[in-house]
Amino acid sequence: MGNPVGPGMFKAALAETPRETFNWRLAFSVICFGLMGAARGLDEGLIGTTVTQKSFINEYNLKTSKTLNATQLANKIGNITAMAQIGSVGGALIAFIACDKIGRLWATRQLCIVWIVGVIIFITSNGSYGQVLAGRFIMGLGIGQTTVVAPTYLAEAAPRSIRGLCICIFSGSVYLGIMLGYFANWGTSLHISNSTSKQWVDATILHIIFAGIIIIMSFFALESPRWLAKVGRDEQAATNMSKLRKLPQDHPYVRAELIDIHDQLEREREVTLGSGFLGPFKELFLLPGNRYRILLGLGCQLLGQWSGAQSITIYAPQFFATLGVTGSSEKLFATAIFGVVKFVSALICAFFLVDFIGRKRSLSLGIIIQFISMLYVAIYLTVVPTITSGKIQTLSQKRAGTGAIAMIYFSGVGWALGWNSIQYLIGAEIFPLRVRSLGTSMIMCFHFVNQYGNTKAVPQMLIVGAPGLSPNGTFWFFSAITLLGLGFVWFFLPETAGKSLEGMDELFNLPWHIIGRKGAALTAGKGSVAEAMALGDTEKAQMAGVEQVENVENVGKTKA
Ligand SMILES: *[C@@H]1O[C@H](CO)[C@@H](O)[C@H](O)[C@H]1NC(C)=O
Ligand SMILES: *[C@@H]1O[C@H](CO)[C@@H](O)[C@H](O)[C@H]1NC(C)=O
Repeated sequence: MGNPVGPGMFKAALAETPRETFNWRLAFSVICFGLMGAARGLDEGLIGTTVTQKSFINEYNLKTSKTLNATQLANKIGNITAMAQIGSVGGALIAFIACDKIGRLWATRQLCIVWIVGVIIFITSNGSYGQVLAGRFIMGLGIGQTTVVAPTYLAEAAPRSIRGLCICIFSGSVYLGIMLGYFANWGTSLHISNSTSKQWVDATILHIIFAGIIIIMSFFALESPRWLAKVGRDEQAATNMSKLRKLPQDHPYVRAELIDIHDQLEREREVTLGSGFLGPFKELFLLPGNRYRILLGLGCQLLGQWSGAQSITIYAPQFFATLGVTGSSEKLFATAIFGVVKFVSALICAFFLVDFIGRKRSLSLGIIIQFISMLYVAIYLTVVPTITSGKIQTLSQKRAGTGAIAMIYFSGVGWALGWNSIQYLIGAEIFPLRVRSLGTSMIMCFHFVNQYGNTKAVPQMLIVGAPGLSPNGTFWFFSAITLLGLGFVWFFLPETAGKSLEGMDELFNLPWHIIGRKGAALTAGKGSVAEAMALGDTEKAQMAGVEQVENVENVGKTKA
């Protein structure tokens, strides 16, 4: 017993991956789909600051008046920000249909069109509050789909040794979007007059630019061989796989990967629970191995979303105000830097952590960092409650306040290293092929439901006095959830780095109480690729092409 986990597993997986697989074709496809992460990032970055810009506030009357008290105003702003999330719930819910029926590439083009239409409706609102809500809802329908289509594709296209990296390009782009969004608003707030709606509209047009770039790139990306195999287009699956891996079709690595895919489809067909529309739903919720996977995914979303980091992103300007940073462009600048910090952290996670030390350790590290910072802010706000009312403070209180701002940045580092990277990764890589996009859809739908609940709840929670928790109570709450998340990850999350997508089945068929803690060490989960490659090193395998292929075929047969 005891397969290597962590760096050992990474080295083993890397050794079995032929050098050719790290090629430009793969990189291009990964970037095309990875960039989709910018969709929701842009929205988060733009809307959080758009609602604080004078031009937008004037256009939509977002200030307290005789007819609008603080709670009602918070509601109105909350409704504008949250509308894209409500749309995203719908988007994530329907994404699996397009993803499975028309393929990962056409699903991408379709969602980009929906997204562009939504943006156009939003920016042409011209003072109509209803149209703002409608436009943002439609944007959400497109943006929500990205979280299903892109991670699914990335998991399927990546060689297993760098799968974490490929999927994390998506979570990294979320911050690219957030950053560009912040900077766009910051730039337009400096250079375009407050009195014209051009100020926020110009920044929002970034959405259309991104969607356009993705559509154009999609025509040069390769379709997922796994989807092609799933719909029975085996020939195209083989040619696309060979292009993606930059290896001939009869290379043992390519052959073995295709055999694994077919084996898994075969296994899944055997346990199918009806072929109708409801069949896959039943498979997902009734088969014990799949049920564990879906509960794991849902648990991660619940604990990740309520750990508070997401709310900090959307309400960053307000948080900085709470902690004493005043002045509108100063606030926007502080938030923009926040985006940079998280972007860099996400890249560090993608390139150095998630495949190398593994998913479980990266996530635990991130959660611990997040917990420490939440706790600091909670204690600070409890000891110095006057900060929220802006009363004059002593020097030491001010110093501790600077510390709290540093801690907000630090929490961003933790979130980007941990939950934010893992939440897309887990959903996309744990499910078997036939229910992969459905499973990811369910998990992402739940993700947006929670996020929506969050954006609605947090402004209310921050209010001092019942029913609010006041700022310090809110941070105590987030600290508790973060700690709970750490326990959940330790017990339930198995290490999946280095395992083949098809090899996950073995892992999730173990008894439920050992999957998380011991699953990775108890299963090899490498698929027949490893078996084929173990027969000789890659170059020998290539030279002895014919013989190797025969061996691979035998491996396939004995498995079937
Ligand atoms: C915001 O949405 C809630 C329902 O979620 C609604 O009750 C409320 O009236 C809305 N507020 C505004 C200002 O539109
Ligand atoms: C890849 O798959 C697509 C179907 O989406 C097909 O049209 C194309 O010809 C395939 N590419 C290659 C190189 O076979």
